[in-house]
Formats: sequence, C-alpha cells, structure tokens
Amino acid sequence: MIELGVNIDHVATLREARKGAVPSVLEAAAICEGAGAHQITVHLRQDRRHIQDHDIYELAEALNVRMNFEMAAVDEIIAIAHDIVPATVCLVPENREEITTEGGLDVAGQQAWLTEVVAGMHARNIRVSMFIDPEIDQIEASAATGADCVELHTGAYANATGDGIARELARLTESAARLADTPMGFHGGHGLTVQNLAPIVALPGLREVNIGHDIIARAVFIGLEEAIKEILVALSPV
Ligand code: PXP
Repeated sequence: MIELGVNIDHVATLREARKGAVPSVLEAAAICEGAGAHQITVHLRQDRRHIQDHDIYELAEALNVRMNFEMAAVDEIIAIAHDIVPATVCLVPENREEITTEGGLDVAGQQAWLTEVVAGMHARNIRVSMFIDPEIDQIEASAATGADCVELHTGAYANATGDGIARELARLTESAARLADTPMGFHGGHGLTVQNLAPIVALPGLREVNIGHDIIARAVFIGLEEAIKEILVALSPV
C-alpha cells in the first residue's frame, strides 16, 4: 500500500488566524493517526506563518506515527531538526512571498551544501527526502547528495488542464523510471486530491504521498477522519 502523510499545516493556519489555541494541531494529529495516516507532515517555515516551534516539540512528544519535517536547508531550522530528530526531513525551497511551496528544490544548484546537510542528518539517524520537480538532473543530483528518497512535486500535474495533464504525467512517469535505477525511495506530493490521485497511484515504485490542503479543505465539510479515509481508499490497490 502507498503510505499517506497528512500535512496538518493548515490546521495551524486556521489557529493562527486568531492567534489562539484552536483548532489544536495535536488533536488533528491524533485524529489523523486514528484514521490510519502513516505519518504526520509539518512545515516549520522561517516566517512561522502556520506551524510554530512549540508545535514541533509537542508533536515530537505526542506522535505515535512518523514525523515528516518539511524544512528549508538553513542553519536555524537545521538546528531544530537536529534537536527533535524526526523520522524524516523533507528539504523544500522557501520564498518569503509565496502562497505555498512553489516549484521543487534546486538540488543540482547547491549540491555541495545539500550533501553536507544530508550527512548531518544521517549522523543523527534522520532520513532525508528532497522535494524536487520531476526532472532527471534533479533526481541525479539528489542521488549524489546521498538523499534517501525524493518527493516529486505533483503541483504542475495538479494544475494542468487539457493536453497538459498527459504531458505532466509523462514527466512524472519518466522520472519514476529514472528513480527506479537509484537506491532512493519515490514519494509524491502537492496539489493531490481524491479526484486527481488515481494516475499518481499508478506510477511504478511510488511509496508515499503527502497531502495537506485538500484533506483539510474536505474536513471542513465532512470531518477530518472521513477526509483521510477517502484518501486512503483512493490509495488502496484495486
Ligand atoms: N509535500 C510538500 C513537500 C509540500 O511542501 C506540501 C505543501 O506544504 C505538500 C506536500 C502538501 O501539498 P498540498 O497542501 O497541496 O496537499
């Protein structure tokens, strides 16, 4: 079965709208676990727009499933990752003005630095995932850093219309084939929904998806547990 990481950043987005205590990120994580999520994904952004430092420490204490800690490869956040020791860090690009993570990490353009970051994580038994666009040179650069897995950015596929959908799926399929020749695990994420998941689930070698916005948006109407169950059904082998 393809594993599901639920990104609960947007629970914190709602909480931060009032700078209060609700909705609780910890309660959300517990519901995700109860509904069958395999991991909890959180992004501690440098601008702290949703998840806060205390969330990360509280989740690290409370979680029964893996934490996938999304982060920019910058010293401040690296120090926090080294302190909490999540199961996995997923290195992502971060721009201050962006609405969400736009585009994958340019691993090829900063290979030496990212190789150092990977070694620092491995020294603490933390797995490293690279969030990259489905491009062969980025897959090869990720492998060269010693990363354990890559998360292919599915946002272009999710946003595509008409012929663009087949074009984006072809890029993902070609990347999946290249990944199969590396020791790295294959994950996917961004913009995935119950409706657009099937062709992604069919990609050879896919082990994990991370889904946030659609699950939290659906949860407003049908509840978090049901929203997760819908996705788990869509991930199940037919
Ligand atoms: N994976 C990564 C690396 C991300 O940065 C995000 C967005 O925070 C997601 C998955 C989830 O994307 P979405 O919220 O569109 O499902």
